[in-house]
Formats: sequence, C-alpha cells, structure tokens
Amino acid sequence: MSAKYIWYGHGTSGLETGGYKVLIDPFFTDNPAASTTAEAVEADFIVVSHGHGDHIGDAVAVAKRTGALVISNFEITNWLSVQGVEAHPQHIGGGFNHPFGYLKLTHALHGSGLPDGSYGGNPAGLLLTTNDGEKIYLACDTGLFASMKLIGEEGVDLAVLPIGDNFTMGPDDALRAVKMVQPKHVIPAHYNTWPVIEQDPFAWAERVEDETDAKAHVLKPGESFSL
Ligand code: NI
Ligand code: MN
Repeated sequence: MSAKYIWYGHGTSGLETGGYKVLIDPFFTDNPAASTTAEAVEADFIVVSHGHGDHIGDAVAVAKRTGALVISNFEITNWLSVQGVEAHPQHIGGGFNHPFGYLKLTHALHGSGLPDGSYGGNPAGLLLTTNDGEKIYLACDTGLFASMKLIGEEGVDLAVLPIGDNFTMGPDDALRAVKMVQPKHVIPAHYNTWPVIEQDPFAWAERVEDETDAKAHVLKPGESFSL
C-alpha cells in the first residue's frame, strides 16, 4: 500500500500509511489557509516539529479529542504531558519504530519557543521510512543547511519543503534544497498563508522541473498526493 500525503494548508500535513493517519503540525484555528478544522480532522498519531503557534496550534485539542499519541522533541512532550496529553519524546538524530514506520527527527535551522513563552527545545525536520520502505522528508520550518545532502543520501521519495521566505527558506534556497536532497517528488509548503509569505508555487515548480530530476506537485489545501 502506498503512502498518501495530504496538505491541509500552511505547514499542516497528513500522512496515511499502513492504515494509520499521522497528523503533522496541526494548525487549523486562526489558519486562513486551513482546509479542515480541529474538530473534524482525524488522527491516530500527531507529530509536532517545533513549538511555534502555527505548528503546535491545535495539537492539544486534537490529541484530547482523538486520543492520538503526540510525538515531538523532549521539551515539547514534557510541556504536553503537563496538559494531560499522552506523548512520546524523541530528539534530533534519533529515530523510533512507530506502528506507522520509522520516524527520525532531523536538524532544522529555526526557533521553537512555545506560545506561552516556555522553552520548546530545538526545532526538527521529519524523516519517515514507511513500513513499505518509502522515505518521506518534511523539512518543516527551516533555513537552508548543507547537511540536507546527508538526508538526501538516504534516498528520498517525497520531500515537502517550505518556500514562503521570511520565516523559512524562500524559493531560491528551496530550489537549492531540492538539488541537495534529490527527492523523486517534491511538494512546496509554508507559503501564501499570509501576505508576508506570498509566493508563486507554480513558477517554483517549473524551476524545479527545469533544473532538477524531481517532479514538483503543487497542491491546494485539502488536496493529496499518493506515492
Ligand atoms: Ni516556526
Ligand atoms: Mn511556521
């Protein structure tokens, strides 16, 4: 069975693999780009890449409603546990065999402070190896860093990269990221939520296909791509 990636808008995604629904960075409330709501979305697992409000957003509410286990860094899972949320701590460079696959937290060049001012540890990217052996890399919020090349060496089938600029990589650096990661497929994210991160994803996708071997897929919020 192939993995299905759903883009819910901004940095919020879903992955369906092996019969499990994995919700990543659930930010629906106050997200002008959200294609669904914190009340309607389904999840067996939730992964939070870092502490910023546009990523941890509705994690507590969705976890409490669905009973989903939340996976994040040690600092964020401690913060969630205090609020009565069941959580699994990991950290950068560490992977764990969850029922939906082997999830490794990767380096990300960003911040991670939690909305109430608590320390959110280091931000992470996510590298998932599904039980069928597909590799999916979600860079999450990050600037460009040279060791993306190391992630690429694992053989990435699908990469999801931010292109919004201002808070993360912009289109130029995201194109350089594609050249380092060399994924088979790439999807842009973290753009057009607000004017400050307005970008043309189709122009970017054209550059990707002109200058690399990757296939670029521009999704509308709510649309999905299956490997
Ligand atoms: Ni952020
Ligand atoms: Mn963000």
